[in-house]
Amino acid sequence: VLQARTREQLWSALEPWRGAGERLALVPTMGNLHAGHLALIDAVRPHADRIVCSIYVNPTQFGEGEDFTRYPRTPEADLEMLAAGRCDLAFLPDDETMYPGGQANATHVRAAPALAGRLEGAARPGHFDGVVTVVARLLNLCRPHVAAFGQKDFQQLRVIERMVDDLGYPVKVLGVPTVREPDGLALSSRNRYLDDASRQRAGVMSEVLALAAERTALVLLRSRNENGAEAAEGFERIEHKAREGLEQKGFRVDYVAVRRSLDLARPGPGDTDLRVLAAAWLGETRLIDNRPVS
Ligand code: PAF
Repeated sequence: VLQARTREQLWSALEPWRGAGERLALVPTMGNLHAGHLALIDAVRPHADRIVCSIYVNPTQFGEGEDFTRYPRTPEADLEMLAAGRCDLAFLPDDETMYPGGQANATHVRAAPALAGRLEGAARPGHFDGVVTVVARLLNLCRPHVAAFGQKDFQQLRVIERMVDDLGYPVKVLGVPTVREPDGLALSSRNRYLDDASRQRAGVMSEVLALAAERTALVLLRSRNENGAEAAEGFERIEHKAREGLEQKGFRVDYVAVRRSLDLARPGPGDTDLRVLAAAWLGETRLIDNRPVS
């Protein structure tokens, strides 16, 4: 697979493709690639002639005391995964390429505050500002026609869609369904932090969320003829039960929330497109996951 590390290398690789009128796709990643990332690549393939996969562990989206230094970096294995025709170009920038004047005084993008302030944003202040800051840079550097992000980080997907919309990036954003292990655990680079005992319990999170999503669908059905207050109580009970289910299995829960898919606000009367989202710790590992309500 072709590689670019500097802006100049990236631009000289892209120029002939763009010149020939080819459609470009960008798959932004932080590396340590797994089947979830390959699903992103597969998702953009029908929309593009050329696929660029970026690998960059972005420091500005990690808070103090988070896992930036120990985040798994496996560039050689990543490049092997990207070979075999899966993508056309791997963009592997260093900090100087992404933040040329240094991070401290860099130009930052601020994520839409209401959307980015809740759930993950409340647990990890500033996280989404770092995400949109680096994604804006990647979009500007690559100027893709299409870009893909995983639904596993559902709030991130929404925050990025909002930024793309607000700032008018001419890019189509694809949200790609989560890839799961046989026991339901959503694929994530952070799963490798789990010790054996925690790994055996980790699948419980997706089970609990799937059940909560089913119950939410029932409340929605029933509440057609009731007022919004009863539905809201039903959602609270579901959140509470899911939290208990996780705690019984040894999770420390940051949040379990039934939310509107559109903006992750609490559902109001008439809202039917909902999602159940959770974040919880197993030992030192923080897991997040979500399920659509259908
Ligand atoms: O989801 C990720 O891997 C990262 O948050 C992203 C979108 C590549 C930005 O660093």
